[in-house]
Amino acid sequence: MRLCREARGWITLLLLSWSLPGAAGAQAGNVERRIDDLLSRMTLDEKVGQLVQYSGFSEDGATALREGRIGSLLNVIGAENTNRVQRIAVEESRLGIPLLFGLDVIHGYRTIFPIPLATASSWDPALVTAIEGIAAREARAAGIHWTFAPMIDIARDPRWGRIAEGAGEDPYLGSVMAAARVRGFQGGDVTAPDHILACLKHYVAYGAPVAGRDYNSVDLSERTLREIYLPPYKAGVDAGAATVMSAFNLLNGVPTSANTFTINRILRGELGFDGFIVSDWNSVGELIAHGYAADTGDAARLAFGATVDMDMMGGIYAAQLADLVRANVVPEAALDAAVRRVLRAKFALGLFDHPYVDPEGERAVTLRDDHVAAARDAAGKSMVLLKNEGGLLPLAAGVRSVAVIGPLADNPGDLLGSWHAMGRPEDVVTVLAGIRRRAGPAVTVTYAQGTTVTGGEQDGFAGAVEVARAAQVAIVVVGEREFETGEAASRASLDLPGVQQQLIEAVHETGTPVVAVIMSGRPLAVPWLAEHVPAILQAWHPGTQGGNAVADVLWGDVNPSGKLPVSFPRAVGQVPIYYASDATGRPATAEKFTSKYLDLPTTPLYPFGHGLSYTTFAYGDLVLSADTIAAGDTITVSATVTNTGKVAGAEVAQLYIRDRVASVVRPVKELEGFTKISLKPGEQQTVRFTLGPRELGFYNRDMQWVVEPGVFTVWIGWSSAEGLEDSFVVRGN
Ligand code: BGC
Repeated sequence: MRLCREARGWITLLLLSWSLPGAAGAQAGNVERRIDDLLSRMTLDEKVGQLVQYSGFSEDGATALREGRIGSLLNVIGAENTNRVQRIAVEESRLGIPLLFGLDVIHGYRTIFPIPLATASSWDPALVTAIEGIAAREARAAGIHWTFAPMIDIARDPRWGRIAEGAGEDPYLGSVMAAARVRGFQGGDVTAPDHILACLKHYVAYGAPVAGRDYNSVDLSERTLREIYLPPYKAGVDAGAATVMSAFNLLNGVPTSANTFTINRILRGELGFDGFIVSDWNSVGELIAHGYAADTGDAARLAFGATVDMDMMGGIYAAQLADLVRANVVPEAALDAAVRRVLRAKFALGLFDHPYVDPEGERAVTLRDDHVAAARDAAGKSMVLLKNEGGLLPLAAGVRSVAVIGPLADNPGDLLGSWHAMGRPEDVVTVLAGIRRRAGPAVTVTYAQGTTVTGGEQDGFAGAVEVARAAQVAIVVVGEREFETGEAASRASLDLPGVQQQLIEAVHETGTPVVAVIMSGRPLAVPWLAEHVPAILQAWHPGTQGGNAVADVLWGDVNPSGKLPVSFPRAVGQVPIYYASDATGRPATAEKFTSKYLDLPTTPLYPFGHGLSYTTFAYGDLVLSADTIAAGDTITVSATVTNTGKVAGAEVAQLYIRDRVASVVRPVKELEGFTKISLKPGEQQTVRFTLGPRELGFYNRDMQWVVEPGVFTVWIGWSSAEGLEDSFVVRGN
């Protein structure tokens, strides 16, 4: 009877949720039998070994590998290294179980793409899938099987440095991007020589630390958790993500790496995830620092009880798990289940049959021409033109002299952004190099650094002013260094670091028109620039080909089409600021006793969804398929978009809704669809969206997903702040 139930369980698992590409049908049944066989031969210590992960490799590690006490390594890099270490596991350990090599391949392996916040600005899931596919190909050829990506934490507080690694503030855009990245990394078949396992991280709500300070606690209502922070995880699980990483943070007082509510109940139960879960770096050990576990034994028991299968770097499972099983605190069946999840991933990757990679293959794919071209394309499509007064951009054909100024104009390392894996500064085309190449012999290009990014030096200002004076246009490249973004890089100020703004002010004084190119890993608060500088291009940290891509956009070879995935505040004091806020009972007016600041407007400097083009688009003919629908039915909303300018361009049409009156107050706007279309001058296209229970519903007070009767407003527009508007009614059943 028990066997039957297990067998049924496996079948359901195979059909429904164990969705690692390639692990299908008879082959999967065979895999389960091979795992059964392995489990029957493994000692308790060897089982625990599969759940242990360390960083790097040393000779002490070799003994542990031979004894089967390590299942995975991270940060062992390159075909020759991974082969050498793999050989010890496969050829010198008793059972020959291959190692799983993991690495943070966050936005490229050696060919570095723009940071994820940038590629989210493309609003182009196909592009995102394609670049993650390239990242996977380069990584897999170098012996890497598994990336700790995508990071799909919603982030509404740009003080948090890791906002750079995600898709910004919105759960809908975040979900689309999460699924696109998983598809890119894992492809159709991870056994293919060019794909790797994805890892959804950091489960969960790690992007909402109090005060934007990394690793700080998170306190959220269950509704906010479910409506804002969980959707990208659902999308990632549905897209077949093989693994998930549990996070560092507390959530409502309980560490997320030992949280049976969010992991066992929601992730495993409701979302049906049955891949394996890895802890974040020593997040199991940190249960003690949190004051949640008394000692390492307690920490192992609590994390393992929440089905965190693998302990990254903590050494806690290695030290405690076998004893906990021997003491009957942890059932051996639970240990077997965790080991099975890890072994399945190794089988799905084909590691038992092909544990090594060919170093020639690594050389052949690294920085391949098409990869580099894709990096340039992605960077161009990820940039957001925030402002372009008087059509300063693209640079006119008559421009014969350009001054390139600023501490980030020729700083290759910083273009790579945080978490740049094996990306190297020497591979990078800086903005100065890209502009020199594009400008050609007919245009004089001068350069002055002006100052450093974070320092206070002003002695370079005079040189900057001099080159600006002598040029027709000044391109000033400012922003953040790569280490000012990413992990452990929270900032209390969102201003341009150092004296970069003063540098721009000095250049602006010359009267030469200024184009500001901002490279950053987060929205910066740049109200002075927004007011005084005629053109602003948000280039993010654009990767290996960043300088070429900036030149492509400045000269109009690429028409910018990025849109902000996150609101740009006017000042840090507005943070957290996001478009999908709840309505207050006292919306801001000139009256004193309304919801506002005394010293700043309530609106952002640039809203979510904003981004300009070198052409213009007109929206018209908003049409709803009905005035009224029944709850549970769908409605179609369409509009026409016309390119009314002189050049071809791409536009992201965005669909927002608002449920006007509900039993739980709904946000003033919610993105529920978007589509990116390319139009030639004069060309028109109809964009069409379908809204149904998934888009119109929300969690009621009993945490049930419902569509409530009443009026809905709908917008199709070009940002979260502007668009065509209409409304329809949902009838009760
Ligand atoms: C980060 C993770 C990362 C891990 C391994 C941790 O510090 O939080 O995102 O995957 O290190 O490098």
